[in-house]
Amino acid sequence: MDKKATNKLNKEYENKDFFGESDESTSYTFVPVEAFHEVEEAGDRNSLEVNLLIHAENSHVMSALKRDYGGKIDLIYLDPPFDIGSDISIDLSFGEHSSKSAPKSNLFRAIAYGDHWKEGSESYLEMLQTRLLLCKELLSERGSLYLHCDYRSTAYMRLILEEIFGKKNYINECIWHYKTGGMPEKLGYGRKHDTIHFVVKDPNKAIWHPQKEKSYLGHKYGFKNIEIEKDERGHYTWTNLRDVWIIPALRGNQPEKVDYPTQKPEALLERIILASSDKDSIVADFFCGSGTTGVVAERLGRRWIMCDQGDLAIHTCRKRLLELHSEVKNKNATARHFLILEAQEDETSGNLSKLYTDYKESYIEKVFEVIGASREETGLFQGRLKGNPCYLVDLEKNATKELVLKLEQSLSEMGEETGWCISFNFDEKLTQEFTRNQAIRLIQVPKEFFQQGRKSAPVFYEIPLCKFEVLHQLDDSYDVHIIDYVPAATINGNNRNDNLKQNPSDFIDMWAIDFDYIPGKHFHYDWCDFRSRGKRSLELSSSAHWKYSQAGIFTIAAKIVDVSGVETVSLQQIKING
Ligand SMILES: C[S@@+](CC[C@H](N)C(=O)[O-])C[C@H]1O[C@@H](n2cnc3c(N)ncnc32)[C@H](O)[C@@H]1O
Repeated sequence: MDKKATNKLNKEYENKDFFGESDESTSYTFVPVEAFHEVEEAGDRNSLEVNLLIHAENSHVMSALKRDYGGKIDLIYLDPPFDIGSDISIDLSFGEHSSKSAPKSNLFRAIAYGDHWKEGSESYLEMLQTRLLLCKELLSERGSLYLHCDYRSTAYMRLILEEIFGKKNYINECIWHYKTGGMPEKLGYGRKHDTIHFVVKDPNKAIWHPQKEKSYLGHKYGFKNIEIEKDERGHYTWTNLRDVWIIPALRGNQPEKVDYPTQKPEALLERIILASSDKDSIVADFFCGSGTTGVVAERLGRRWIMCDQGDLAIHTCRKRLLELHSEVKNKNATARHFLILEAQEDETSGNLSKLYTDYKESYIEKVFEVIGASREETGLFQGRLKGNPCYLVDLEKNATKELVLKLEQSLSEMGEETGWCISFNFDEKLTQEFTRNQAIRLIQVPKEFFQQGRKSAPVFYEIPLCKFEVLHQLDDSYDVHIIDYVPAATINGNNRNDNLKQNPSDFIDMWAIDFDYIPGKHFHYDWCDFRSRGKRSLELSSSAHWKYSQAGIFTIAAKIVDVSGVETVSLQQIKING
């Protein structure tokens, strides 16, 4: 796709008031932060035709979606946390090793998401009830909702669903039977199933395409007019799919397996999507995790909307979708365009000031407690972290270059060499001009800090640094080479730091270039490379051979995403002569 078409597409998206705002109960507007335009021509499309991956808290997303998508979604699949009472973690690998084959020294433990409800199961059920009410508003008259849960909450879920959708609209309690998982040590039977509740908005209008399965007979006689077939297991007839589904749970060596815990098999989503949606349907998943729903919906030609609040989840979805897009491209077909969206206003701090006023007042205490800093007012600083003075920026404010200069001044007056500036928001100018030798080091307050349901403290990272050079090739094309990368060191939490001194670029899981980035606007993928389970190597020089079609000054942006999903963007201007 040429740059002119890309720019046109960008203009369309920039001018679009995406969704949100008009409804009074909605506080957030979601705008594109990443576009993957190279997969399809721009055309005359409106926002409803683009697939959306939304990185945000799902109740905010669903409230905002009501304006444009209310009554328009034909199928919603929800696979929320199960109220397990702990955090869900995963061993991530770096470098050329996949998590499957990596030696222990190349693995570190990361938390994918929290599933711990401080106020107990009641607060968990309330959380789901709110979201199910929102789902009902989004569903079309022909719509269906599938809610995935296990023995812990299935009985409550059924009651909540019947309350919200009506008893007559409760259709099935589907059992997904698998063989993995352990056996109880003392009392009880092995737990080998999950429950998937199936409800519809209106049984007379619901989309329904009965799926078939083989029914083995144990003999070769059947009913008149029913054809009996045979395979290696024996004689069978085709029958309408029943409500017990025997589908193997994913194991580490299966090709579809990605590095995300609780990933569901594509076969499970395939039967749900085929049964309860049409070709032109929109399929949504508001707890999307690794993105199974979107990947299957895309393969089956449905439009999709997915949402997750976790960095690792969104990063996993992005890679999975990009892989799918190149798979589709190799078959000379096209995949639908997709965008990554985030809240325009900061939903976390907005949410915090609206809902957690008490919490906000104790913001500094909470942050200091999590990172192990002590209170000690000296100069401009409020405390000490790892022996050095530290300063926490107010939640509503940005850490700026001016602030860091003031902190450096205060530091030298105190006769100290190193200090910390901790902030939720950073000015782009500050992070772009930041170097590794500065006296003040920057720490990011992670979004997870404000999320419900976490047992252990979220990991705080130092801001990662990246430097690149622009390669001007003989054929007048341009490429990018990463010359320096300092991965985000953790301040608390996992054992990632032990490995940082090895090859830092091993921590790069994906990187991408936008050759014509417009600061403050979304990043579009002109070129990218990433590691997957099957492909572990990663080039530090791009092979984009990018050609500018006109003279001018352009900003090249390189985005690096590390193995934990932590992102950094580095910018450089170039002048193209006519
Ligand atoms: C069980 S996992 C989903 C797994 C997914 N079905 C798959 O196949 O990979 C649940 C997901 O819900 C996300 N989540 C939990 N609470 C959320 C919320 N309030 N808003 C958005 N995402 C949430 C978690 O980050 C997690 O990725």
